[in-house]
Amino acid sequence: MPASAILIGGDPGVGKSTLLLQAAAALARRGMSVAYVTGEEAEAQVQERARRLGAASAPVQLAAETDLRKILEGLKALRPDVVIVDSIQTVWADGVEAAPGTVAQVRACAHELVRFAKKSGAVLILVGHVTKDGQIAGPRVVEHLVDAVIYFEGERGMPFRILRAVKNRFGPTDEIGVFEMVEQGLVETPNPSALFLGESGERASGAAVFAGVEGSRPVLVEIQALAAQSAYGTPRRAVVGWDSARLAMILAVLETRCGLSFAGRDVYLSVAGGLRITEPAADLAVAAALISSLTDTPLPKGCVAFGEVALSGEVRPAGRSDLRLKEAAKLGFESAFAPAQKKGAGTAVKVRAISHISALAAALGAGE
Ligand SMILES: Nc1ncnc2c1ncn2[C@@H]1O[C@H](COP(=O)(O)OP(=O)(O)OP(=O)(O)O)[C@@H](O)[C@H]1O
Ligand SMILES: [Mg+2]
Repeated sequence: MPASAILIGGDPGVGKSTLLLQAAAALARRGMSVAYVTGEEAEAQVQERARRLGAASAPVQLAAETDLRKILEGLKALRPDVVIVDSIQTVWADGVEAAPGTVAQVRACAHELVRFAKKSGAVLILVGHVTKDGQIAGPRVVEHLVDAVIYFEGERGMPFRILRAVKNRFGPTDEIGVFEMVEQGLVETPNPSALFLGESGERASGAAVFAGVEGSRPVLVEIQALAAQSAYGTPRRAVVGWDSARLAMILAVLETRCGLSFAGRDVYLSVAGGLRITEPAADLAVAAALISSLTDTPLPKGCVAFGEVALSGEVRPAGRSDLRLKEAAKLGFESAFAPAQKKGAGTAVKVRAISHISALAAALGAGE
């Protein structure tokens, strides 16, 4: 959107500069005038990366500069369509008596740059670092100044990267983009399900496949649970990629409604591939993974699960069921533990209708 400002936040080293350099090159090749201002690296280093990414020939205007006044002077002369500033934490204004990266500097510089974008009609993209404590360098202070806030996420050691909008004045916020980081840079993953399913074929006990929806696209993802004998008095509960309060709730529902006891067991839950799931529809898949681990019995082959679990143990319908089932069918799954579907919702996947969590436990040969 012309005359708008976008903030891209992400952990150090996740690939923000790579993403934006590739985006800059792609836009420049389409005839847009793009300025890439870096305060993090020398021009030669950016050029070196551009060579590795195959972007060196794109006509991107590159500048290594951190002085806000000089940046603005340059931009006013160049009048680019797109301005990328990598990162806002390195820019400083001489009127502000504080070190670069401090809240005062970040706010002042972001304000000036956004003003330039609004006046000139340029698209401004700011990179912001997220620190562990999320305070000093965190882009939070800038979030209300910009039109869109996008996070670039990825688990350390995993090649997958997810671009997720958390605020967007001119478009939807529930879309994600999935990329893989390879030697030549970031490559779009048009079919993310394959990434998050882990190895295909026989699944171990404790593994369930959740038929999820991220934004408008269906994503199948493996959820792994491990309920291990606890060696200590207070059992551990550890979660990666899901909400720990939600796990506690599902465990309580399984204990109370199905008589399945997790007392004296450490419970670990992990979403494969470094994806973070926020959908309540994952409840049923999590419950299936937990039961499977507790009973040490693999789930039925070729089976997915989705559905929201209420405190009463009832399983509520999830939105976009048709999309979930279609994706499951596409990837060769044959059945689904899910709330009963409307008549005529025909797919190749057989729905094993579950209206209460105890029915799931019974189907898996567990519970009272
Ligand atoms: N030669 C290379 N081959 C393959 N991957 C590389 C290579 N060099 C860097 N990378 C990948 O790129 C990542 C760094 O990307 P990038 O510099 O874009 O991240 P960033 O988010 O901008 O980091 P920073 O917070 O330091 O600015 C590395 O973690 C690594 O995975
Ligand atoms: Mg960088």
